[in-house]
Amino acid sequence: MSTKQAYVQVSGLRKHYGDGDARLTVLDGIDTSINRGEICVMLGPSGSGKSTFLNLIGGLEDADGGSIMVDGCALTVLKPTDLGEYRRRELGFVFQFYNLVPDLTIKENIEVTAHLSKNPLNVDDLLRSLGLYEHRNKFPRQVSGGQQQRCAIGRALVKNPGLLLCDEPTGALDYKTSKEILQLMEDVNRTYGCTIIIVTHNAAIARMANRVLRLRDGRIVEDGLNESPVAAAELDW
Ligand SMILES: Nc1ncnc2c1ncn2[C@@H]1O[C@H](COP(=O)(O)OP(=O)(O)OP(=O)(O)O)[C@@H](O)[C@H]1O
Ligand SMILES: [Mg+2]
Repeated sequence: MSTKQAYVQVSGLRKHYGDGDARLTVLDGIDTSINRGEICVMLGPSGSGKSTFLNLIGGLEDADGGSIMVDGCALTVLKPTDLGEYRRRELGFVFQFYNLVPDLTIKENIEVTAHLSKNPLNVDDLLRSLGLYEHRNKFPRQVSGGQQQRCAIGRALVKNPGLLLCDEPTGALDYKTSKEILQLMEDVNRTYGCTIIIVTHNAAIARMANRVLRLRDGRIVEDGLNESPVAAAELDW
């Protein structure tokens, strides 16, 4: 048993879409708790509710029931302005589809969120560690998909967030780039102690996690601690 403080505490979380015949229960009572500083990997088939779960934790959608506590604060009862403040202050979000601003350069896309943070990372240093420094003045359409994904990750990381939510961060990337991205996340986790939740289809990534959650049919069917996580560089698939 870990004695670390629970940082994200989810209890009885429920979410559905649609009504009547079209009603679809996506999350059917999710309970879990994630400790501060953990890397948590969530696995589950397509459509099992992984993005929905991240969106709820990120305060982007409302739950039907249950509660989400982050750092002792109950998101499910926050007013919209407080929720906005939570997203700005605490959260880095890497979306499944990058959502870069097309009219801003790679550097500007990252700078935009740096301004939201009280203790942002140095943008040029981050651009270098993302391998984007020489591409910093290009627009997203002028760089590769992997470079766009790195920029999206940079945009989330530059805030130096307490909680980093990553939806399929390597879904569109080749093997080598995927491993570089995972190593970067591992570095950030070690250096700054941020808590990271990674949603992925790739079961191999679970080996680098402290905690592995498996979602199926709206429920968590596995919630286990990994006593000896493997370094991202050692992953293979
Ligand atoms: N806004 C919405 N309105 C209606 N149904 C939705 C909405 N968003 C998601 N769904 C449905 O909820 C279910 C869960 O979707 P979600 O995006 O959370 O799955 P996922 O596990 O992230 O899948 P993937 O691995 O393909 O990204 C799916 O059946 C999806 O069609
Ligand atoms: Mg998804």
